[in-house]
Amino acid sequence: MKQRWLRSTVRDLQLYYVPDISSSPLRMDTNTNPLGENPSCREALEDCKTIGLEQYPSTYGDALRRELASLYGADMDEIVVGNGSDEILDIIFKTFMEPGGNVVMAYPSYSLHGWFGQINGGGSVQVDLEEGYQLDVDGMLKAKGDLVILCTPNNPTSNTFAKEDVLRLVEESDRPVVVDEAYGEFARPGSSFIPLVDKYPNLIVTRTFSKAYALAGLRVGYSIANKDLTLAMQKVKVPYSLNKVSEHVAVKAVRDQDFVRRTVDIVNGERKRLEDGLSALGLYVYPSEANFIMFRCPKDSAELVGRLAAKGVLIRDFGKKRLLENCARTTIGTREQNDLLLDRMAEVIREWR
Ligand SMILES: Cc1ncc(COP(=O)(O)O)c(C=O)c1O
Repeated sequence: MKQRWLRSTVRDLQLYYVPDISSSPLRMDTNTNPLGENPSCREALEDCKTIGLEQYPSTYGDALRRELASLYGADMDEIVVGNGSDEILDIIFKTFMEPGGNVVMAYPSYSLHGWFGQINGGGSVQVDLEEGYQLDVDGMLKAKGDLVILCTPNNPTSNTFAKEDVLRLVEESDRPVVVDEAYGEFARPGSSFIPLVDKYPNLIVTRTFSKAYALAGLRVGYSIANKDLTLAMQKVKVPYSLNKVSEHVAVKAVRDQDFVRRTVDIVNGERKRLEDGLSALGLYVYPSEANFIMFRCPKDSAELVGRLAAKGVLIRDFGKKRLLENCARTTIGTREQNDLLLDRMAEVIREWR
């Protein structure tokens, strides 16, 4: 293939994270739900035999939009549902970023935020986080771009951003501000920006079923924003992109908030124990409000992650990235999973000295 056949904006792209999982039965690398499959799945998938798979799903996923609207006390016309929150982010970029334009994003953060800019024919202006991985609000306000995006809790640093900083960014920006809350369920109560979408004409919040709902394999995500922003996004979305099976299971999962609460309780209950265990091994642990923890290794984090993978536990290395030197990230698991992680990590560190 000739390079010039490729659109100029995508010539230097690399494949996304494709880990070798063959020797690591315990996956703590993608911040998914440690409790296993969502209990709504079994029954809901049984129903799928009779939901008419020969027909298209509803064009904009109305059943799930209705269910989420009732969960949040919102209007269904304030909600877009799609194939993972990654699709929702893609829609947002397609709707609000001019070709050749830019997204203003925090760095370090979710790498796909910049990637969505690039694949949509634009770019990103990355504004470094400050001390304690907090937002440089003035820097982001000054940066030129068609929209602003951040995630809180932030991936991979695991902290939340100060609420007043995000609010100032929203209030002082004359452009859409996207608050990606993929890990919002795990953060301190009252920290979500969803209740503010009617107050701010430029605020869009995104969420996912991949984490607290344990449905990463089904690919379901959503946004909440005022009706004008939402309608503009619906016009851009690929019609029917949320398939009938995923929508049906997600509706049932929304009705089972007990499972979400149980997940959050277990993860939040385990966080301190895992943080203490990692610190006791000589690792520097950063504060977390998510279902994962970032820590800094005294030596090469890639080697630690590689040695741990060989012992059956996969976590994710970020150590080659600027501002994340020798940092790695682990999902917070169940007590048994965390104990196994700590045991194996202790072995690695002993053998490594
Ligand atoms: C910050 C953030 N946003 C969005 C996503 C994408 O989630 P989904 O599985 O809903 O596409 C992730 C996935 O890890 C994430 O970390």
